[in-house]
Amino acid sequence: MDNLPLIELSKVNKIYGKLVKSQILFDITMTVPSGQFLVLIGPSGSGKSTLLNIIGALDRPTTGEVFIQGKNLGKFSDEELARFRNQFIGFIFQFHYLLPEFNALENVLVSYWIHSLKPSKEILERAMYLLEQVGLKDSVRKRINLLSGGQQQRVAIARALLNSPQLILADEPTGALDTKTGEQVLELLAQIRQESKMTMIMVTHNREVALRADRIIELIDGKLCKEVYPKTVGLHETIKILESHSCNLEDAESSLS
Ligand SMILES: Nc1ncnc2c1ncn2[C@@H]1O[C@H](COP(=O)(O)OP(=O)(O)OP(=O)(O)O)[C@@H](O)[C@H]1O
Ligand SMILES: [Mg+2]
Repeated sequence: MDNLPLIELSKVNKIYGKLVKSQILFDITMTVPSGQFLVLIGPSGSGKSTLLNIIGALDRPTTGEVFIQGKNLGKFSDEELARFRNQFIGFIFQFHYLLPEFNALENVLVSYWIHSLKPSKEILERAMYLLEQVGLKDSVRKRINLLSGGQQQRVAIARALLNSPQLILADEPTGALDTKTGEQVLELLAQIRQESKMTMIMVTHNREVALRADRIIELIDGKLCKEVYPKTVGLHETIKILESHSCNLEDAESSLS
């Protein structure tokens, strides 16, 4: 079990449209080991969010398979997928999708409210602990729309961590924040990741963030184009690879691990 990659994608294709088909992802085959911090980069429209949503079981591939911890997600019903997502994955999006009329604590616990479940004492304590960890101890009862953008994204991070997910998926988590606030949020995520050994896949346009990853994958036109391990090849070489216009992956068929 331990030798299994946490995530395995096998020839994932995504096609939108029935009459006019447009293919967004082409034969994506890759694995992600447990504990890795993987950054996905690529031009706008290259399919990064689509890929992240498929990994996160928010969307299904048109063809191909996704395995998480050896489980074939294609065999799950929608209901099973929802349960799996809730237990296993924490999502952080560019726009945090918090409920403006509720306070920070209520937003962290939102998955309980929407199912009309009363959170246990342990869950409540964890929510409080997480809000403290993200630096919002004094704003627990503040309504979301009274918090700054950076504070709101911190609430969203606390919400994503509530169920101690093994996998964090972040789609441009600082895309809507100013540089300084974004930097603080990333610092926080890096710290949380290090402490918890969570696997994290982050889409970002921020090069500084990408350079801190264990691994960078670039998507171009829905195909895997580049793969770099900054900590292995060094920053200088990483930047050189990122700036080159050719792909260092021969073709999309090559299996990444
Ligand atoms: N539900 C959908 N129906 C049809 N086309 C879609 C749908 N979702 C995404 N697309 C198309 O798929 C392509 C890839 O979109 P995606 O959001 O994955 O790109 P991205 O790399 O995340 O871009 P960005 O950096 O701008 O967020 C785009 O051309 C987009 O228009
Ligand atoms: Mg996107």
